[in-house]
Amino acid sequence: MIPVVITGDTHGEYGRLLEIHRRMEQYDTKEKYLLVCGDFGYLFKNDFSEHRLLDEIEQQDYTVVVVPGNHENYNEFMQYDIVDFHGAKAYQVRKNIFYILRGEIFELGTKAFFCMGGGYSIDCYMRQKDVSWWEEEMPTDAEYRHAADNLEAYRTEGKKIDYILSHTAPLSGLRYLKKDHGAEEYPLNNFLEYVQETLGEEYTCHYFGHLHVDEVIPFHRMRALWFDYEELMLPDDKTLEK
Ligand SMILES: [Fe+2]
Repeated sequence: MIPVVITGDTHGEYGRLLEIHRRMEQYDTKEKYLLVCGDFGYLFKNDFSEHRLLDEIEQQDYTVVVVPGNHENYNEFMQYDIVDFHGAKAYQVRKNIFYILRGEIFELGTKAFFCMGGGYSIDCYMRQKDVSWWEEEMPTDAEYRHAADNLEAYRTEGKKIDYILSHTAPLSGLRYLKKDHGAEEYPLNNFLEYVQETLGEEYTCHYFGHLHVDEVIPFHRMRALWFDYEELMLPDDKTLEK
């Protein structure tokens, strides 16, 4: 079995990093993964102290997979090489840290994760472009197109999506949580709604961050994450699923 821990925005906080290290230590396996639903934040100011923390993560025996949020330094992480991460295109910023591109699907064991990062910064008016705010935070039309096409192509091959990972929530999730990040974000909220509707009963859960709440949403199988952790043990062999 492959341990996978999923959490919400970590915002580059050192305390979260220590907590994550401790949490991952409990798994004595060859492969283990931490999935972050955006605003990872250990590459935000792109300064010496952040790179020391990234170096510290690089010493760990687990792999970090980031579905980028709005508070990420797009100028910086997009300069790293794009590699294949278990079937998905990803920027590799350290040997064990990967930022997944929008609309990509990766597979861990027998399970598939559809990823759609991005989000709108409601406080962008008080932020400085390319210093504390990046216009790449919201998907482009081409990225929506790629995501929809990739999802369709994957499923046309007879494969199914088990989990959805995003930074922001679909519209129904926002409504349930009585949250609203502004009309500027609606195209992405609506797209995530479309993904859920397209997959129907196929997916097990949709995890997202961004809203800074921890809550399990029963309908449409959603979970909003911030400090909470979802821990999954994924079968690494089809025969174990039977
Ligand atoms: Fe955040």
